[in-house]
Amino acid sequence: MKVGIDLIHFATADFYLGLDTFAAEKGTELDKYTIGIGQEKMSIAPPDEDVVSLAAKATAPILEQIDRNQISAVMFATETGVDQSKSAGVFLHGLLKLSKHCRVIELKHACYSGAAGIQMATAMVKANPKEKILVIAADIAKYDVDTSGEATQGCGAVAMLITENPRVIEIEPGSGYFTDDVMDFWRPNHRTTALVDGKYSAKVYLNSLKQTWDHFTEQTGRTFDGIDYFCYHIPFTKMAEKAHKTLVKKVGAKLDKAKFDTQTLPGQIYNRIVGNSYSASLFISFISLLDNVKDDLQGKRVSFFSYGSGCVAEFFTGIMQANYQSVLMAESHQHQIAKRQALSYQQYLDFYHNTDDEQENTVYANHNSGPFRLAAIEGYKRIYENTDEME
Ligand code: CAA
Repeated sequence: MKVGIDLIHFATADFYLGLDTFAAEKGTELDKYTIGIGQEKMSIAPPDEDVVSLAAKATAPILEQIDRNQISAVMFATETGVDQSKSAGVFLHGLLKLSKHCRVIELKHACYSGAAGIQMATAMVKANPKEKILVIAADIAKYDVDTSGEATQGCGAVAMLITENPRVIEIEPGSGYFTDDVMDFWRPNHRTTALVDGKYSAKVYLNSLKQTWDHFTEQTGRTFDGIDYFCYHIPFTKMAEKAHKTLVKKVGAKLDKAKFDTQTLPGQIYNRIVGNSYSASLFISFISLLDNVKDDLQGKRVSFFSYGSGCVAEFFTGIMQANYQSVLMAESHQHQIAKRQALSYQQYLDFYHNTDDEQENTVYANHNSGPFRLAAIEGYKRIYENTDEME
């Protein structure tokens, strides 16, 4: 039985901070960002945007194409959860009017949990082919101002419908996985921003890639030459380049630059201008590949390397399906990216400092063009609205 991603769509915020603006503010050479870390822009969420509104925007176009009452489970992967108890997915469930006969759960492990969601959902569909499961990966990457991580912020959400006979990609059985209890990036409960040991985190990422690769080949017998395109977790695109170089060296592959670029660059185009989106970034890389490779990918094998600091990692693959192009939503992705408004550094700081969700009562000014937005907090309860329903 084939199981995998039937539909996939992503959403990002309406604003961005250019790394040119950022470099001018910090008195740093722009090349450090565009060449050194390989980033140009970071999507910035205004105060009335959070992972729930981003996830709703990512999911709504999928629901327009199916009977939403058939969704049997929602797995909401995030490390930017909005409540210590209630799953972000249940806010989403209400906002999108999903069936009451639907299980909802939030999954957390830094940037890894979206991959865990895909593996779990795939197994559930194999056990019961009637299941139609929404796996959502959504995060807002936020670091302290004036730290090394500040240039690697961003935000985004990816919604994926997991079904049998998928129209986009079949997720192949077997994968390589790896866990190690390390402190490279973490966020204690009282903090809204992550703490990170930046250089160490890059080393742990690359070590995890080598470990998952070994486990993947042992488990599946698949080889480097059998993979056509490589999608990586992308905190910044230079990390994906380093990852692929590490893998190429490890397997002793002889690749010219053109082949190296073909295997990895299409899966970096969106990430370069969206920034880090933690759990969503691997799947934004996949969408970037789908939207930007004009050749027919039918039958091609795509690999996914998911890395979540702390750390849990997984390497798995999928096979592209016939006529997948007919269900892609490239226009929506490109429109959202293109319509974002540039922020000055001061406007970015105003958003940055005005996202205090700890107030008992807050009414959020209308920045997010919707249709889904965080409208208010009343008695510590989050109030979301669908502006389309208010017209
Ligand atoms: N022209 C060209 N290149 C330049 C340059 C210039 N003018 N100036 C600097 N560079 C290069 C540097 O040589 C360096 O390249 P290498 O990494 O190849 O050595 C690169 O630009 C970055 O420069 P620095 O090392 O000086 O930058 P930094 O220390 O200020 O910050 C960072 C780099 C540590 C990665 C920082 O961005 C950070 O802490 N980011 C957050 C953590 C992170 O994303 N880690 C990734 C792995 S963990 C993970 O993936 C999970 C997750 O999502 C967080």
